[in-house]
Amino acid sequence: MVTYQFEYPERIRCAFIGAGGHSYRNVYPAFQYAPVDLVAVCDVDGDRASTYARSFGAPASYTDHREMLERERPDAVFVVTSYTGDGDVQATALAEDALRAGAHVWMEKPTASSLARLDALAAAATGAGRYVMTGLKKIFTPAVEKVKEILDSEEFGTPSSISVRYPQGLPAMPNRNDGRHMIGFLDHIYHPAAVLHHLMGPVERMSYEWEPRTGASVTSLRFASGAIGTLHLTAGSAVTSPLERVEVVGEGANVVVDNGVRLTYYRRGASLPYGRSASFVVDDDVAPLTWEPEFSLGQLYNKNLFYLGYVPEILHFCTAVLKGTPPTKGTLADVRLIMRLYEAYRRTEPGTVTTIER
Ligand SMILES: NC(=O)c1ccc[n+]([C@@H]2O[C@H](COP(=O)([O-])OP(=O)(O)OC[C@H]3O[C@@H](n4cnc5c(N)ncnc54)[C@H](O)[C@@H]3O)[C@@H](O)[C@H]2O)c1
Repeated sequence: MVTYQFEYPERIRCAFIGAGGHSYRNVYPAFQYAPVDLVAVCDVDGDRASTYARSFGAPASYTDHREMLERERPDAVFVVTSYTGDGDVQATALAEDALRAGAHVWMEKPTASSLARLDALAAAATGAGRYVMTGLKKIFTPAVEKVKEILDSEEFGTPSSISVRYPQGLPAMPNRNDGRHMIGFLDHIYHPAAVLHHLMGPVERMSYEWEPRTGASVTSLRFASGAIGTLHLTAGSAVTSPLERVEVVGEGANVVVDNGVRLTYYRRGASLPYGRSASFVVDDDVAPLTWEPEFSLGQLYNKNLFYLGYVPEILHFCTAVLKGTPPTKGTLADVRLIMRLYEAYRRTEPGTVTTIER
């Protein structure tokens, strides 16, 4: 059951850094369903900061985040900013400033532009004794949460393989150490990589083939668990096409998520003897299960704030802050696995195999 913001008996004193496009569409509006008391908004563009403050109910706006942190002393800070001219992630240093001011941090992906930079942020969080959570929305979608539950069930068996499809181009090898060229890849690898690691654990070995006209790639993965997988980054696909497909195979069972919302679980146990089965209709207790939202009612589940994972990821953070227990998803350890894979793409030539150290 979802609680509306005004129904919460206790709300967290929050400030927000960034009044850009994504936050307007998907982050500030998610606060309607979270225990957030938005006290101030900051953007280097003062008009945007004050407009967002008025729109989303914050009494104050700032153009300097340090001044905001000093004056408002928030318990938590949301950071949704962008990139510097040379491709660095603005949010990393802003998160460190918020930690120094004693606040917990929720930040959009990407968390940092390199593993070293991520580790420095993690050290700052430990030093401050505060949480940093990244909005890995894909692992908060109802569909992926259900896949995880299925994978953890005895009936599914041990996950043996996975395939993930996501449209993203990988720059040519000579450009991979230039942050400006890597912005798109860094920005997007977080989505499929969050799903891969959440469902299958750490990757220990990878190799890939790369198509130079579009930058498309197909990666072959081996996980520390012994499971295997593919990541098909389908640069070159049409913008009208659904972006994503995830399939995980267990032992005699598999589960598929198409387009983020259509979930089909092909369960173990049906019997269809070859050459002797007159009907494909199997018994109800072993039949495939399919879930898909209806898009007719004014329900919360058919609102993108929910089925894309935005409200759930923010609620996860707010619950952690209110309870005083660290977040368990979207953690810096989760992000570290993603950044290890990102760094592997940066250094690995197509057609060669690389081992990913922990
Ligand atoms: N999870 C998702 O679905 C999703 C979707 C889109 C974007 N994003 C992420 O959201 C972030 C923002 O993307 P966007 O498209 O909204 O960018 P944007 O450029 O529209 O917004 C960024 C805002 O941050 C402000 N800003 C930058 N530095 C600042 C500072 N020091 N102090 C105060 N304000 C500052 C800018 O003025 C701008 O208004 C990116 O990290 C992007 O990867 C996530």
